[in-house]
Amino acid sequence: MAMDLIQRLEHLRNEEQRLAWSGTFAEYFDLVRENPRIGRLAHARVFDMIADAGIETNDAGQRAYRFFDDEIFGIEPALDQLVEYFQSAAQRLEVRKRILLLMGPVGGGKSTIVSMLKRGLERYTRSDDGATYAIVGCPMHEEPLHLIPHELRGEIEREYGIYIEGELCPKCRWDLEHVYGGKAEDVKVERVAFSEKARRGIGTFTPSDPKSQDISELVGGIDLSTIGEVGTESDPRAYRFDGELNIANRGVMEFIEILKVDERFLYVLLTLSQEQNIKTGRFSLIYADEVIVSHTNEHEYRAFVGNRKSEALQDRIILVKVPYNLRVSDEVRIYEKLLKQSARKDVHLAPHTLETAAIFAVLSRLEESKKANMSPLKKLKLYDGQPVDGFTNKDLRELKAESDREGMDGISPRYVINRISAALVKDGVTCVNALDTLRALRDGLGQNTSIGQDGHERLLNLIGEARREYDEAAKREVQRAFVYAFEESAKTMLDIYLDNVEAFCNRAKLKDPITEEELEPDEKLMRAIEEQIGISEAGKRAFREEILIRISSLARRGQTFTYDSHERLKEAIEKKLFADLRDVVKITTSSKTPDPDQLRRTNEVIDRLVSDQGYCPVCANELLRYVGSLLNR
Ligand SMILES: Nc1ncnc2c1ncn2[C@@H]1O[C@H](COP(=O)(O)OP(=O)(O)OP(=O)(O)O)[C@@H](O)[C@H]1O
Ligand SMILES: [Mg+2]
Ligand SMILES: [Zn+2]
Ligand SMILES: [Zn+2]
Repeated sequence: MAMDLIQRLEHLRNEEQRLAWSGTFAEYFDLVRENPRIGRLAHARVFDMIADAGIETNDAGQRAYRFFDDEIFGIEPALDQLVEYFQSAAQRLEVRKRILLLMGPVGGGKSTIVSMLKRGLERYTRSDDGATYAIVGCPMHEEPLHLIPHELRGEIEREYGIYIEGELCPKCRWDLEHVYGGKAEDVKVERVAFSEKARRGIGTFTPSDPKSQDISELVGGIDLSTIGEVGTESDPRAYRFDGELNIANRGVMEFIEILKVDERFLYVLLTLSQEQNIKTGRFSLIYADEVIVSHTNEHEYRAFVGNRKSEALQDRIILVKVPYNLRVSDEVRIYEKLLKQSARKDVHLAPHTLETAAIFAVLSRLEESKKANMSPLKKLKLYDGQPVDGFTNKDLRELKAESDREGMDGISPRYVINRISAALVKDGVTCVNALDTLRALRDGLGQNTSIGQDGHERLLNLIGEARREYDEAAKREVQRAFVYAFEESAKTMLDIYLDNVEAFCNRAKLKDPITEEELEPDEKLMRAIEEQIGISEAGKRAFREEILIRISSLARRGQTFTYDSHERLKEAIEKKLFADLRDVVKITTSSKTPDPDQLRRTNEVIDRLVSDQGYCPVCANELLRYVGSLLNR
């Protein structure tokens, strides 16, 4: 369906209009009285945003957050901690005064989580539930309730349940006096939508060279264009309150690599988190209300914790570990998400490609278990929720408790995606399969200088292990396709066998249906089937006669002998068919011309792989060839 541009533009305009509420502070206060949620503080806004998207609790008490549903997979414990932080902070508990620090390995999703919070707030403040208002003209889009003097706040809280915290910024204080003649009720208020681009409610700070980086990037500074007119530095008009901390007021401030930053900056952060104040120029402290979230890796964090000088800051940090995901099925979802954003749509990804890469990646992140008989592969399967012989849920819990830093090391999803992409963009490639991917992953290891000799060898072994898992899957896959072509083949084989048995028992000859030539019963064919269920040379006659008796006794009752009439014969035929699989797939690898029957069956298997199992002709043929070579070993 083509999109109706005009209609969509109109819809957008209506949206904007809906958002464009403006009025006086008196009117705003009525809104808040009706719905006190409007006046909530930053942490509560973030928590409500997550909660409004939906939080589901399963029977085991685990919570799932719809908010992160489509983008973050497999790291529920980290999300739990994160949401719990916001939940406590929303209740204005002490944790609100801490800086949130996400710590984890490279490419483990830290930035993604923060950016989801930022993008989420942009959307949320545009929704009814997330409606947010600010004093018009305030560089910090501050909460209009600040206009209410302290003398009245207690009464308002008692009467309306509206909690008010914070002071007017210097600019609004000046305006109240000089523009509104002190009449707070007349001050103009508007609805605001947060936007990182518009520098409203969302900020980002990236440390650069500490020698040249100016603190004004964080807290604003003197406005050189107006200082001349105003004359004094203590006049707010001579000031720009446009530092990242100012503009992020009421929302989220992302502090990139907080532990790399110069101490001067840390001091500002400390005051802000602890006292909710920003110290700027000649002004008394400026109130700010925002979530400060940052990220770092384990190495830097350890160094930071080891440094006595940073003790004050350590106290003011809430650490949330963001390890790599350890579940293969979730890892596959991560790859699918990332490939959807980037991959070439014209290249086919063979089944098991992502899964095999995921097995390798997850294996690289697992620690060895102290449990008896617990191989890394078994652990991987247990973590993924697959049944493993001899182990229970209790073992799973114990496994998880064994280590507190599992997932902090290993191969990142980013590395895997880069390698898959490298395989995808090769010239002339129309399809990438699991083996291509393992090869690309292996070749990439050589280019990665951060992996030492030991690490390199370990990873090569893990690639081997992922490959063996793939081998099993490949064989199963071919067998499955084969079973499909099986029913008809089984019937044909049964008919041929019965004809031969009949001729054998009656000491008769068979007639070739086409040439009408007389033929001896085919001993080789009959034996090939009988041997499958251990019928000896000496026992073959008895077995064949038993079959014949069954045929005639059925016939007397007007019934025909079918595939299901004799359990053991059925088993023999199935086994023979599976054994034939070897030949069928071997044929495709051999240069000798296959006989028409084998060729037909090969084609049936390929058709089945393509029509029902997600293969394209290229990878279906490759799969058969590969499984053929496996069976030849
Ligand atoms: N558990 C996960 N669920 C979903 N996507 C993930 C997960 N882990 C990593 N990713 C994806 O991998 C990519 C890298 O993640 P991201 O950039 O968020 O990591 P990071 O922890 O910030 O890494 P760095 O330390 O290198 O900055 C992103 O595209 C992200 O979406
Ligand atoms: Mg990052
Ligand atoms: Zn203000
Ligand atoms: Zn393919």
